[in-house]
This record gives sequence, C-alpha cells and structure tokens, in this order.
Amino acid sequence: MKMRAAVLEEFGEPLSVQEVELAEPRAGEVLVRLVACGVCHTDLYTASGADPSGYAPTVLGHEGAGVVERVGADVTSLSPGDHVVTLFSPQCGECVHCVDPRTNLCMAIREQQNKGFLPDGSTRISRDGDGVRHFMGCSTFAEYTVMPEIALAKIDPEAPFEHACLFACGLSTGLGAAINTAAVTPGSTCVVFGAGMVGLGAVAGCRLQGAERIVCVDLSSDRLELARGQGATDLLEGGEGAVEAILEMTGGFGADYTFEATGNVAVMRQAVEAARMAWGLCTVAGVAGKGETLDIVPRLLITGRRVAGSSFGGVKGRDQVPILIERAVAGEIDVDPFISHRITLDEVNRGFELMEAQDGIRSVIEFH
Ligand SMILES: NC(=O)c1ccc[n+]([C@@H]2O[C@H](COP(=O)([O-])OP(=O)(O)OC[C@H]3O[C@@H](n4cnc5c(N)ncnc54)[C@H](O)[C@@H]3O)[C@@H](O)[C@H]2O)c1
Ligand SMILES: [Zn+2]
Ligand SMILES: [Zn+2]
Repeated sequence: MKMRAAVLEEFGEPLSVQEVELAEPRAGEVLVRLVACGVCHTDLYTASGADPSGYAPTVLGHEGAGVVERVGADVTSLSPGDHVVTLFSPQCGECVHCVDPRTNLCMAIREQQNKGFLPDGSTRISRDGDGVRHFMGCSTFAEYTVMPEIALAKIDPEAPFEHACLFACGLSTGLGAAINTAAVTPGSTCVVFGAGMVGLGAVAGCRLQGAERIVCVDLSSDRLELARGQGATDLLEGGEGAVEAILEMTGGFGADYTFEATGNVAVMRQAVEAARMAWGLCTVAGVAGKGETLDIVPRLLITGRRVAGSSFGGVKGRDQVPILIERAVAGEIDVDPFISHRITLDEVNRGFELMEAQDGIRSVIEFH
C-alpha cells in the first residue's frame, strides 16, 4: 500500500515527507494505522547525525499510538480494531530476560532492530523498489507501520490516542524509574533532576508511590511549574549549588531516592551526591553523550549509596504500559499538560524546532 511518511534522507537535513510503499505484515507482524505520535529527542538525535549507530534512509518516530488494521499469520494476541501503543522496547515473554522479573531488556529482536530491520532481517518500507529501514523497530512518523506483535501493547480504547502515545517512551520511562527501578517507598524524600518528559514522569511516579517530599530541580522556571502540577512539593533551580541546597533541605543527609533525567553527566554526579548515606538510591535515566563517563567518589558508595540505571523505566511494555495507561484513564496521572503543540505529519520539522527551542514538553503529531 502507499502511505505518507517522514523520511530521514541525509543526516543534518530536514525530514522529507513523501509517499512510500508499505508491504503487508508477514508472520508475527501487525499493520497499525497511526493516530498520534510524539516527537522525541531520540528522533532528533538520529536525524542530526550525532548518533554513531544511526542509518539512512529511514522513517523516524517511535512514540506512536494507533489502531490495528490487519494482522499477519500466527498473530494471536491482537486483532483488527485493537488500540495499541508502539514499543521500541518489546516483550517477547520467552527470552531469559522476559521470564525474569528483574529486567525489561527483552533479547528477542535486538540485533535486527538495531540495524533497522524487522525480526526476519528485512524491511516492509520501500521506495521505487529500494528498501527504507525501520527506526527503533517503530517508524511511526508515518500514516501506517508494520511492527512485530511482541512490540505492541494493547491498551484501553477509552484512552485518548494523544495521551497514549506519550507512554510509548518518555512518560513510561519516568514513571517506571520511580515505580519499578527505584520502587520508591511511601513517606520517602525524592529528588528529580530534570523536568522534561522523563523527569516529570518520575515526579508523578514518586507521587503515585506515596513519597512525602518531592524536590524537582531544573534550569527552567516554566518547567518547574509543570513539576508542581505533577506533585513536586519543592522546586529548586539547578546549577552548581544544587547538591548543597538539597543537603540543607534534608537535615544534611540527602534524599532517600534521587533521579537523573537530563542526560548530563555532571548532573548525574549531583544526583549521586544528593542521595542519602546508608540507603540513598540514585536512578539514572538520562542518556549521556558517546564516550562520556560518570565520576563518583567511591566513598559515597561504601557509605551506602547505590546507583541504578533504568531503560524505559524497567517497564515490561506489553504487561505494564496498559496498566500505566489505565491509571491515567482513572485520573491518577494528569497527561494533558505534557502536550504543548499538536502538529500534522507535514509539520514534523517544526516539531524538531520547537524541541530545540525547549518550547513545551511534547509536540504530538495527529494523523487525520
Ligand atoms: N532511559 C531511557 O530509556 C530513556 C528514554 C527516553 C529518554 N531518555 C533520556 O532521558 C533524558 C531526559 O529526556 P527528556 O525527554 O525529559 O529531555 P528534556 O530535554 O525535555 O529534559 C531535560 C531537562 O533537564 C534540564 N536540565 C538541563 N541541565 C540541567 C541541570 N544542570 N540541572 C537540572 N536540570 C537540568 C533541562 O532544563 C530540561 O528541562 C535524556 O537524556 C533522554 O535521552 C532516556
Ligand atoms: Zn522517545
Ligand atoms: Zn523477551
């Protein structure tokens, strides 16, 4: 079938919205009609050419929500009409990691996905007979996509698509960092560095876990106000004095749980240093630049601080994204403030510009 899609032709150039060909889903695959899709830093990172593992031509986008249109052979858990969220982090349910409750890092299709192919090593997207690669296994800057069944979460049809798509990446990452990775305990003190989509999700996650005090740290006062709306009890301007300020606010001890959601290694260090001695846990969600390292004074670890990394918030996508969305539908998570701009597929490059200007949290592409 023919469809419109935003193709990354050359790194550093605007995406080109054009007509491409999409083949039918094969065994274990599903054809999805996209209804909403968030524009994320990872799309821009790849488009810019800064990601050394990037490739082109490819159809970008990975924060999609839509409706199942058709299913290929052997697909048993999804049917036409189901509402779904795309998962760049799939859940096969059978690999050594999927059967273990400690991790969400499914091994099933990693290798081919990283190369831009579906699990059988081929692509469904093409142009004049030449293959165009899939991005993060999703390619959701397009009217339709073909994805593996194991990379689609079936969600409550009551959830608005423009809300649901945010759970495909940043929002679940932040919520999961607090709920799964850190497993914040009721009554605790938490500090979240960064008030973008991930940090705000972590603030909401700490609130849902029953934290008593939630300090949010950012450089932007507008973003800190959003954090208050998600449950932050204290707002702090980031920068060199942040650790000292947090120690002062916590009787000299630091926080029970700290979260880093900026991608800046200097801030990661602050997040470790702001964690309490004896049991403070620092959860790192930000993605640092290639080759950068995190500097920690080992004494901080010996005296009881711990550091954990969190990919997609430790969320096992097929099982847990529907539960998080259920909580949003029930009114426990206020999703609307995260959507700052609604744009069309043709305006996708404007979505990148808004992100570069830090104008709002998320631009959402709406397909008509
Ligand atoms: N672990 C995962 O699976 C995963 C998933 C999605 C995104 N990420 C990463 O999480 C990070 C955050 O993503 P996002 O979409 O929220 O990004 P974002 O750019 O919207 O938010 C980052 C925030 O950090 C703030 N910040 C910058 N310097 C700061 C400082 N010194 N002190 C305090 N705050 C500071 C910025 O003002 C901004 O509000 C990125 O590194 C992203 O790549 C990780
Ligand atoms: Zn993303
Ligand atoms: Zn698996």
